Amino acid sequence: MEIKNPQTGSVDIDQLQKYAQDLAEVYNSEKEKRKELQVSEQQLIKYADDLNKTILELKTANQELQEAYLDTIHRLVLAAEYKDEDTGDHIIRMGRYSALIAEKLDLPSKEVQNILYVSPMHDVGKIGIPDSILIKPGKLTKEEFEIMKAHSIIGANLLAYSKSEIIQVAEQIALSHHEKWNGKGYPQGLAGEEIPLVGRIVGLADVFDALTSKRPYKDPFPVEKAIDIIKKERGEHFDPHIVDVFLENIDEILKIKEGEGLK
Ligand SMILES: [Fe+2]
Repeated sequence: MEIKNPQTGSVDIDQLQKYAQDLAEVYNSEKEKRKELQVSEQQLIKYADDLNKTILELKTANQELQEAYLDTIHRLVLAAEYKDEDTGDHIIRMGRYSALIAEKLDLPSKEVQNILYVSPMHDVGKIGIPDSILIKPGKLTKEEFEIMKAHSIIGANLLAYSKSEIIQVAEQIALSHHEKWNGKGYPQGLAGEEIPLVGRIVGLADVFDALTSKRPYKDPFPVEKAIDIIKKERGEHFDPHIVDVFLENIDEILKIKEGEGLK
């Protein structure tokens, strides 16, 4: 920077003043820019804050919806079970047995969760079965049993045409939980892998729970006897692979049966 007058050799005041002015201008313009940046930064921080709040509100709303949804499912299940099993524990156990088997079959966690929530709805169609059959203490006649069988179709009809994935799973379970691996089940007489996997899982959980629970017409079987029956039905009533997984994890199954962490 040359601030001396080349002719006189003295300091050029004018030039100096000009430099000072330029510097001041640069400084002011930088200052202005910095201010603008600060304002923008604060605005951004505010936007981020607002966004976080909105996300949090959405999450809370979503959670409330989810809870209301599951609560509704639970109450629907209770309505169906009201006259029959008379126990909320059966519902909880069914969900947990089925979810445990699904988990041990390495199903994705979302599917395991769906099964946990909706497998208790398997018998929701019992709501359409007359009391005289549903709570009859003795053995059902052939005709009565035919009517009882309809609970799988009634349940599936109640749950049909839902856009919700979880209710579609519930529909599949309601329809297929009495099918048998050997094709001798109902209502469609499906065999092997024609039976939806969720139906095969819940079918086993349902029988195990029925065998080991007290019913109007029978005392609970000892666990060993229930296991023997399930082993005998491997490849007949039940999917052999699911029986194997069930037996491999019998300790955890029995923990659920004993009500560990049930409430
Ligand atoms: Fe059933």
